[in-house]
Amino acid sequence: MSERSRNLPRRSCLSTPGSSDRFLAKAPTATADMTFLDLEDSVAPNEKVAARAKVVKAIREQDWGERVLCVRVNAWDTPWTYGDVIEVVGNAGARLDEVMLPKVQSASEVVAMDLLLTQVERNAGLPVGHIGIEAQIETARGLINVDEICAASSRLETIIFGPADFAASIEMPVLTGGVAIPEYPGDHFNYVFSRILMAGRANGLQVIDGPFLKIRELDSLREFAQRTRVLGYDGKWALTPDQALVLNEVYSPTQEQFDKAWDILDAYRVATDENNTGAVMFGDEMIDEASRKMATKFLTRGERAGLKRSER
Ligand code: GLV
Ligand code: MG
Repeated sequence: MSERSRNLPRRSCLSTPGSSDRFLAKAPTATADMTFLDLEDSVAPNEKVAARAKVVKAIREQDWGERVLCVRVNAWDTPWTYGDVIEVVGNAGARLDEVMLPKVQSASEVVAMDLLLTQVERNAGLPVGHIGIEAQIETARGLINVDEICAASSRLETIIFGPADFAASIEMPVLTGGVAIPEYPGDHFNYVFSRILMAGRANGLQVIDGPFLKIRELDSLREFAQRTRVLGYDGKWALTPDQALVLNEVYSPTQEQFDKAWDILDAYRVATDENNTGAVMFGDEMIDEASRKMATKFLTRGERAGLKRSER
């Protein structure tokens, strides 16, 4: 696992086509927590091999700041996966944090990536375990196996939902993936979101929602992203820098929530340490040990997002 990136925020995960010099050059200027340089579905088959060198050059020569930096390789059922890893991980240097593996259907695919990465790291002079893995769940089979997939390697840092490929896999009659379906009375992906979240959290992973394809509709993105924000997802993919700005806001606690979390922790510390009681009134709410845990999660998320407690 990559110790640097495991706990960094991923409120916004910006997709950048690896075959486009223009998008690669622009990517570091976007305010995104994480950027992945794509060799998979945003790159045409004829460009796949040439894109590898462009991605290596961009990783080595551009200033990526502190963001999590990832490369999405092609899935194991294509001819390109091993070449993507050998050429990109083998030449990118230590700034590359992770490899994203799409369309993961079984734990063995993650194990195979882990083994390949170990050899490539050894040959490239990188510490073994330096490169983390992000796994995408985008098929019915992948969802059925998500528990084993999330437990398959200590390199795993995130589990990601891919709504567009998933809709195709389950034969959902939609032509745009990852947007609301007004005819459906509720959230058509609620089961999927929850299933992936449980598997991810049970294995200590960050859990990420995939793309929202109507890239000009920022208000609809803000509304749609609430579905996974309220469940507890850590972030969502951005297809443009403007989408990333919206997502940074949506997946951060508000200042009010962050300050309240601090106040709960202070009140609970006084209750337990000074007054020897495990449950106490906080305003008109009863708080106890579980409230302390919830508040701690808010603090971690807020601190990751750069929030500071307000002066009082
Ligand atoms: C992302 O890869 C998706 O298929 O939605
Ligand atoms: Mg996909």
